[in-house]
Amino acid sequence: GAPLVIAIDGPAASGKGTLAKRLAAHFGLPHLDTGLLYRAVALALIDAGTDLGDEAAAARAAAALSAEGLNDPRLRERAMGEAASRVSSVPQVRAALLSWQQRFAGGPEGAVLDGRDIGTVVCPDARVKLFITATPEERARRRHRELAGRGEAAAPEAILADIRARDARDSSRTAAPLKAAADAVVLDTTDLDADAAFAEALALVIRLG
Ligand code: C5P
Repeated sequence: GAPLVIAIDGPAASGKGTLAKRLAAHFGLPHLDTGLLYRAVALALIDAGTDLGDEAAAARAAAALSAEGLNDPRLRERAMGEAASRVSSVPQVRAALLSWQQRFAGGPEGAVLDGRDIGTVVCPDARVKLFITATPEERARRRHRELAGRGEAAAPEAILADIRARDARDSSRTAAPLKAAADAVVLDTTDLDADAAFAEALALVIRLG
């Protein structure tokens, strides 16, 4: 049959990235964390000293994006998620990154992509669509642990505020807002640890794919 494409969407710190990585390893599929593309556009503007609100510059940065640029460790910093969320509302940025993502997903071996609009916009025909959620409080706890593990200390209240702000911005924008595709299966991981969430996701992929 057609190559297996797995679309994984969900809000910030829902665990979708970890699940995507583990599913990709399990099935031997290439994996793209699409948030990195938006983070890389934001980082390009920051490095150039350009205002994040400069939409034309953001669109140019998106069109010029290279695969090597996605390995910069600064992309994982907390401030970059916030900056990425700002440039991601620019329609020309989304359009430039759309073809990038669709080329990746269209490869002969299939793919796993995770983001906000994979099941709705990037890969509407994906065989498997998962929408990963967890309460904002649980997501804030996870993000706090993850940042602490990398030596980036942050107050838990500040992280929760970040997450709420990002949810609001990502869900309310007009260009490809965060929402579950009509044919996505919703997996709430609030009460699941990483292994239990993976087991559930794997069972869903086997059932749907
Ligand atoms: O997933 P991550 O936190 O790295 O994404 C950073 C930001 O990039 C998100 O808050 C969102 O605004 C944007 N994004 C998006 N569409 C995607 C992936 C990320 O708009 N497919």
